[in-house]
Amino acid sequence: METVLSGIRSTGNLHLGNYYGALRNFVKMQESNRCFFFIADLHSLTTHPKAADFHGNVRQILAEYLAAGLDPEKCTLYVQSDIPEISEMYVLLNMLAYVGELERTASFKEKVRKHPQNVNAGLLTYPVLMATDILIHRANKVPVGKDQEQHLEITRVYARRFNNMYGANLFPEPDAYNFGGELIKIPGLDGSGKMGKSEGNGVFLMDDEAAIRKKVKKAVTDTGEKTDAMSEPVKNLFTIMSVVSAPEVVSFYREAYAAGSIRYGDMKNQLADDVCKVTLPIRDRILDLLQNEDYLRKVRKNGAEKARESAAATLQEMKKLMGFKGLERA
Ligand code: TRP
Repeated sequence: METVLSGIRSTGNLHLGNYYGALRNFVKMQESNRCFFFIADLHSLTTHPKAADFHGNVRQILAEYLAAGLDPEKCTLYVQSDIPEISEMYVLLNMLAYVGELERTASFKEKVRKHPQNVNAGLLTYPVLMATDILIHRANKVPVGKDQEQHLEITRVYARRFNNMYGANLFPEPDAYNFGGELIKIPGLDGSGKMGKSEGNGVFLMDDEAAIRKKVKKAVTDTGEKTDAMSEPVKNLFTIMSVVSAPEVVSFYREAYAAGSIRYGDMKNQLADDVCKVTLPIRDRILDLLQNEDYLRKVRKNGAEKARESAAATLQEMKKLMGFKGLERA
């Protein structure tokens, strides 16, 4: 059986892009794999050090994961900071991580460029913590987007390095997993790029109907003048439509586009209806879950127990290989 693992940063709520890009696939994968899904709140500290930024958000995102279909009976769903073994293993793994390698990481260079006033050591060792997340459960499949591939490459380097250094075969080398090529990138509503959390570009699973209609209505299109190729913003609207709307609806608007008779206002109304059909039931479940404090606490506690059991087993073997003897007699 494959061990699948993925983490999501605890800043920002889940949007339609997360849902189609990853979550729906996680929901399928949990049926037949050993799956670990977690909220990477320690990673969030590298950029969001204030408690107010993320405590409430962890609870919110847990509810969002559950509402979108993750089943805590089928997968191990947990919060990174609930697993002290992760912090412990991170210290050990840091000894195998060369600073030069970390400084060359694209994500680090980008953070330095964007936030020169907060270049903390946690930011530099972000890939070490991420490698720990993966290796601590000896995961072999890690669904990640393009921006995380370099972190996965670093994880493989550490796995190999540890195995070589200690003459062991403890860590498998994890592969980036793109769901058999069917990974759909959901574009934003602002005409270019992928859906993210920036203002006006994304529809969140938590958005109410009025917010969704307003955002879709404002989505960038073009002037409607006939050109050889479809403009980027309109292509993007069609991509979103292709995931939320029925195939005949999509064909109807594609034909209207080809005939030059399309009215973007009508297309947007339809798109808003169909987005609502997907996300509003999820929103209702999120709101229900947020009311159910006992259930959320139980899910979190059980998830932490399962994750700690798996993590502790790896950590123990790792420490043994590294020569730690604890209080037992030499
Ligand atoms: N770095 C990932 C992101 O920004 C989140 C993450 C943390 C992660 N640990 C992970 C993803 C382990 C996959 C595996 O999206």
